[in-house]
Amino acid sequence: MSLGDSANVFIKIVSEAKAIQDISSITDSPDIADNVTQADIDVEIHNIQVSGITFSHNKTDDVLRDFSATFSAGKTYAVVGESGAGKSTLLDLILKFHVPDCGSVLVDGVDTRNITEKSLREHITMLGQETIIFNDTIRNNITYGLDVTQAEIESASAIACVDEVIESLPNGYDTVLHYRGTNLSGGQRQRIGLARAILRKPDVLILDESTSALDQKTKEKVLQNIFRAFATKIVIIVSHDPEIRSRVNHVVELFPLAKRELIYQESASEEKLPS
Ligand SMILES: Nc1ncnc2c1ncn2[C@@H]1O[C@H](COP(=O)(O)OP(=O)(O)OP(=O)(O)O)[C@@H](O)[C@H]1O
Ligand SMILES: [Mg+2]
Repeated sequence: MSLGDSANVFIKIVSEAKAIQDISSITDSPDIADNVTQADIDVEIHNIQVSGITFSHNKTDDVLRDFSATFSAGKTYAVVGESGAGKSTLLDLILKFHVPDCGSVLVDGVDTRNITEKSLREHITMLGQETIIFNDTIRNNITYGLDVTQAEIESASAIACVDEVIESLPNGYDTVLHYRGTNLSGGQRQRIGLARAILRKPDVLILDESTSALDQKTKEKVLQNIFRAFATKIVIIVSHDPEIRSRVNHVVELFPLAKRELIYQESASEEKLPS
């Protein structure tokens, strides 16, 4: 599989991967109506407001219920919570891979139902844990079809702490990677993915466990570099690393709904106990 030269290939790949995973929920959704007027985002995003969202994947078990959070430019956020709490679901709702059953996601006050998916995903870049690597050069794997200078590629690679690794290879940025990146370590693959996301200079950078394969020292350096490079943007980090709480401006914590209901029940029954 080799890399195409469309600037939108990155967005398409993310969308297609998600579409395959979620095709039934997307086609079943009554909220995606053909007659909704949609516009592109034409200025930098300053604020994302998740307002009273309720969502279930299977129309039965809510993953999020009346959930609200705000993300503002110039701030860094950690989204934390145990596995299955709904962190990735929340991010997918922001990127319109899902549509909320109730409530809305507002981008600078505009409901994402009225914003084109293409525009939303050009302004918001989300990177997951797995980086898709193509049988092509490191340069093309990083640019992913973007028309940029070598200096810009090197700058993004330096922020992702992968520049020295690439420069130590005999063919540098011209080194051809194997399909799926089998000639790279997991941490190197993740850093290629980070460089690819950073190079796109999104208004909102979302990293969903995207540094999980890095050692602690490299992870800290990468985060420090990203926070500096995106100081005026919105950065959202999903991580199981408890250390992340002390590194960001705000922590958004999610609790699995089933467990939350159990806690409510326990506290309610405690109130009824005779003193
Ligand atoms: N496409 C889907 N279809 C059906 N259920 C799903 C789907 N994606 C997630 N879920 C369910 O929704 C709940 C929340 O999943 P989600 O992936 O958002 O959790 P998470 O907090 O990101 O977990 P992790 O830390 O393991 O990545 C889980 O119970 C999960 O099984
Ligand atoms: Mg997740």
